[in-house]
Amino acid sequence: MGISSVVVVVGLGYIGLPTAAILASNDVKVVGVDVNPNTVAAVNRGDVPFVEPDLATYVAGAVQQGTLRATAAPMPADAFIVAVPTPFKGAHEPDLSYIESAARTLAPCLKGGELVILESTSPPGATAKMANWILEERPDLSLDGEGGRPALHVAHCPERVLPGRVMIELVTNDRIVGGLTPEAAEMAKELYATFCQGEILLTDAVTAEMAKLVENAFRDVNIAFANELSVISDRLGVDVWELVRLANHHPRVNILQPGPGVGGHCIAVDPWFIVDADPEQAHLIRTARQVNDRKPEWVVNRVRDTISELERPVIAALGLAFKADIDDLRESPALEIVTQIAEEFGHARVLAVEPHISELPLRLAEHGNVELTPIDQALSAADVTLILVDHSRFSDFRDDIGNAVNIIDTRGFLTGQAG
Ligand SMILES: NC(=O)c1ccc[n+]([C@@H]2O[C@H](COP(=O)([O-])OP(=O)(O)OC[C@H]3O[C@@H](n4cnc5c(N)ncnc54)[C@H](O)[C@@H]3O)[C@@H](O)[C@H]2O)c1
Repeated sequence: MGISSVVVVVGLGYIGLPTAAILASNDVKVVGVDVNPNTVAAVNRGDVPFVEPDLATYVAGAVQQGTLRATAAPMPADAFIVAVPTPFKGAHEPDLSYIESAARTLAPCLKGGELVILESTSPPGATAKMANWILEERPDLSLDGEGGRPALHVAHCPERVLPGRVMIELVTNDRIVGGLTPEAAEMAKELYATFCQGEILLTDAVTAEMAKLVENAFRDVNIAFANELSVISDRLGVDVWELVRLANHHPRVNILQPGPGVGGHCIAVDPWFIVDADPEQAHLIRTARQVNDRKPEWVVNRVRDTISELERPVIAALGLAFKADIDDLRESPALEIVTQIAEEFGHARVLAVEPHISELPLRLAEHGNVELTPIDQALSAADVTLILVDHSRFSDFRDDIGNAVNIIDTRGFLTGQAG
């Protein structure tokens, strides 16, 4: 990709907008496309519609330099990067409708010779499906030049950046690029090399799709092991954090930390794409998902046991985010637990402590018995203290939390083993 190249990025969310901005700040002309008019307007003002450190500086700079702008519809370009959502639907089946819609929308802009990259986390075969949707719209094009029809170059390049460090990790992480053809992979490598200083590793599209999914399934399976240990240890009267710490002294053992469940929209979602691809054989991966998904219910049961003797219990719930030090509540087990408690224990007062948000999410606000409460007030009023997230801001209150009665510590916060 030369300096005169134009790249269209379809989907300006947590992944697409940083990718657009980093390309644009490396002198590539970038047109961002989004179906949400507020996002388009915000980007054109040089604003960022969500929180991500340093992104605002990149976007504002690129818009001012004229290398980045946003529109509602794609236009002709040398390369297209598709970064739209891939949630699941129904019984954990991947929902590819956003990719299909993006593919059909960009198809009229093609003339042949372009590179089309799918960045969305995708089940095996999704990149080939995207290519087929484009070719359905454009039978005059091909993937290999067959019949003299101009060829499109289609690749998958999954994203593995960590929210909160996206602008750093886009540059430093290694990338996997899988082409439907080797030429497509080479072209995609050239594009990513404009900003990526990590290694760029080439493979085929299905292997690249699976690589992203197995990274998250690996985490999920290992967390499920820790979560299962936590439940067994509780029954046996063993402190699971001490158990894990001791076992990890073995030179080849590294057990992860248990918690209240698994959240976020990657680890809690992506393994299902593998299960869906081979339901008959994905025993371990499915079971791990189920073990992790059952953990919030187990925590609610602990709360039920603890408050059974209390007439009007006051429960301090520390943390709602899906992990420490972020404001992201998506697929958060903490949020699920607090919602279940509010629903099931209508006689309880629930004091939700989440320093990273300024108002309760709707699904909690609609319960009259939940209040967003500063930590000191919650701790002094509570007769049950439920630790759901190990935010570093809670560390200042470690002594007060330790002195509370009826503590349910799902994170090992008080044993100092959290992390
Ligand atoms: N956020 C992460 O940390 C992360 C990390 C790795 C991979 N991913 C993957 O990246 C993909 C995108 O995730 P995200 O977090 O950026 O999602 P997001 O919801 O933040 O952003 C998606 C954007 O796409 C837009 N959009 C939807 N359909 C469109 C269409 N047809 N045309 C144009 N725009 C469209 C939406 O309006 C939205 O702005 C997903 O597959 C996700 O699994 C995300």
